[in-house]
Amino acid sequence: MTTLDVNGRRYRIDQPGDTPLLWVLRERLGLTGTKYGCGTGLCGACTVHVQGEARLACITPISSVDRQPITTIEGIAGRPGDALMEAWIEHGVSQCGYCQPGQLMTAAALLAKNRQPTDAEIERAMSPVLCRCGTYGRIRAAIHDAAAQLRRGA
Ligand code: FES
Ligand code: FES
Repeated sequence: MTTLDVNGRRYRIDQPGDTPLLWVLRERLGLTGTKYGCGTGLCGACTVHVQGEARLACITPISSVDRQPITTIEGIAGRPGDALMEAWIEHGVSQCGYCQPGQLMTAAALLAKNRQPTDAEIERAMSPVLCRCGTYGRIRAAIHDAAAQLRRGA
């Protein structure tokens, strides 16, 4: 039995400890905002936060995150999530949208630590998340805008 604390709610999960967190989020908890892309840790579509750090849910066994605070895209509201979502809309970042939950979660983890990231820091932080629609330029611009909004305290 594993205890998962997801978006401020506690769940007791009766699944083997090596079950990937992504499976439990999507299939047991109905949190389908976290996407299944490659399933092997290569695309970033499944990124969530564990203790505030970006983590690939497809290669994270549930036993490794027992009782640790987990946030999914459904729980990203607040700071910096709101600033990012606003900037995402302003810049029209999304195309097909499939990678976007992973992009937003990764960007939120970055801005939680760094309110003035350089282009190089953004590229380094965001590099685990692939976008086959090529939205990288708009993502970078939106992160800069969200960071500026956070620095203003807006
Ligand atoms: S689905 Fe997890 S990294 Fe691709
Ligand atoms: S918006 Fe389509 S994969 Fe990124």
